[in-house]
Amino acid sequence: MTPARHAAITGWGEAVPPAILTNEDLSTFLDTSDEWITKRTGMKERRVSHLSAIELATIASSRALACAGLDASDVELIVYGGCTNEEAVPNSASGVQVALGATRAAAMDVNTACTSFLYGLSTATAMIQSGVVRTAVVIGVEVISPYIDWTNRNIAVLFGDGAAAVVLQATDSAEGVIGTVLGCDAEARQSLRVRGLGCGYANREVSLGDAIWDFDGPVIFKRAVQGMSGACARVLAEAGVSADQVDLVVPHQANLRIIEAVAQYAGIGMDRVMVTVHRYGNMSAATVPVSLVDALREGRVAPGSLLLMPGFGGGLTFGALLVRWGQRVTPLGESTMTMPPCDRSALELVNEVRARQDPHGRSLKGLMSPVFAESRRPS
Ligand code: UT7
Repeated sequence: MTPARHAAITGWGEAVPPAILTNEDLSTFLDTSDEWITKRTGMKERRVSHLSAIELATIASSRALACAGLDASDVELIVYGGCTNEEAVPNSASGVQVALGATRAAAMDVNTACTSFLYGLSTATAMIQSGVVRTAVVIGVEVISPYIDWTNRNIAVLFGDGAAAVVLQATDSAEGVIGTVLGCDAEARQSLRVRGLGCGYANREVSLGDAIWDFDGPVIFKRAVQGMSGACARVLAEAGVSADQVDLVVPHQANLRIIEAVAQYAGIGMDRVMVTVHRYGNMSAATVPVSLVDALREGRVAPGSLLLMPGFGGGLTFGALLVRWGQRVTPLGESTMTMPPCDRSALELVNEVRARQDPHGRSLKGLMSPVFAESRRPS
C-alpha cells in the first residue's frame, strides 16, 4: 500500500575526522602491505577520530539540520545508528539530543552493526509515515579505533571512524524511502562478532573493553554478496523498478570486491556506483550516509534521482533501501559547529591505543560467555 505521507530527505551532513591512517602507516606495526590491502579490499586510507562517537554524531547532525534550514528545536526524533556506543546506559542518542539542544526530540539507538543507518532510516521513515513524528534526524556513526585489536592484521586494516546524518521531514510528495527490504541471516551470526564488550561478559574472567574481533572474513564476504544482492533484487521488484532506472547505488563499503559483485548481480555498471572505500575504509554504520553526502557534494545526485542503498553487517543483518531524491541537491545553510582541530597524526592516535594493549594480542580463552553459547539455542 502506498502511504499518503512520505519522509523526504531534506538535510545531510558528515563529520569525518581529519587524521588519515594510510596502508603504509599500518605496515609500520603489522605484517601487512599496501599491495595486500589494496588488492584484497580496495582500501588505501581510513580516518582515526580524536573525538567521541557522540561528538562526531552531533557535528554531523548539526550540519544536516543547517542544510535543511532547521533548528535543533524542530527535531522530534533522533535515531542514532551504530554499534560503538560509549555506554549501554544512557543511550547515545540522548547524548546527541543534549549536545544539539534538541529538547523536544525523542532519542533512540539502533544497533544492527553496519546496517544501523539503513535500519534507522527505515524506522524513522515509518514513524513519519504513521504520523508519530514529523521531523527526524537519522545518524550513522562509528568510532571503532579505540576498540580495535591493533595486533590482528585480519581486522585492523579494515576499519575507519566517521559519521554522517540526514534530516527527514514529512511531505505529501512521493520522495524519500520508497522501498524497503530488511533481513537477517542469523544462521551465520557467529561469523562476525566482537567478544568482550557486552553485559554478558561483566563480572567474568575478562575485563570489559578487552574486545576480541572474531571474524570469518571469507564467510562474511560470501553471505554479504548473497544478502545484499537478494535484497537489491527484491526491493527493485517490489517497487516495479528496473536496474536501468537506478541512477546511483550507494552501498555499504566493506570491500571493493563485495561492491563490484553486488553491482554485477544487479546488472548495474560501476559508473553508477558510489565508491568511497578507498578513502575511508569500512566505517560500519557510517559508510552509507558518508558516501551519500560525498555523492551530493560531487554532484552525483540530481533532482529526482533514484538511489539504491544496500548494506550488510553483524547479525548478519542485511537490507536494501530505494530512495527517490527530492528537488533540492544543495544545502540551505551551513552549521556554525566546527570540528575541533586534531593535534596528532592518525598513527600517533593509534599508537596511543596500542600502548594500552597487550602487544602479544588477545586470546579467545575464557571469553566464551554462556550467554552467547549457541548450544543454548532452544531445541
Ligand atoms: O562489514 C563487516 C566486516 N567486514 C568483513 O569482514 C569483510 C568481509 N571479508 C572480506 O572482505 C575479506 O574476506 C577479507 C578482506 C577480510 C580477507 O580477504 P580474503 O581474500 O578473504 O583473504 P583470506 O581471509 O582468505 O586470507 C588470505 C591470506 C591469509 O594467509 P594464508 O592463510 O593464505 O597464508 C591471511 O593470513 O591473507 C592473509 N592476510 C593478510 N596478509 C597481509 C589476512 N589479512 C592480511 C593483511 N595483510 N592485513
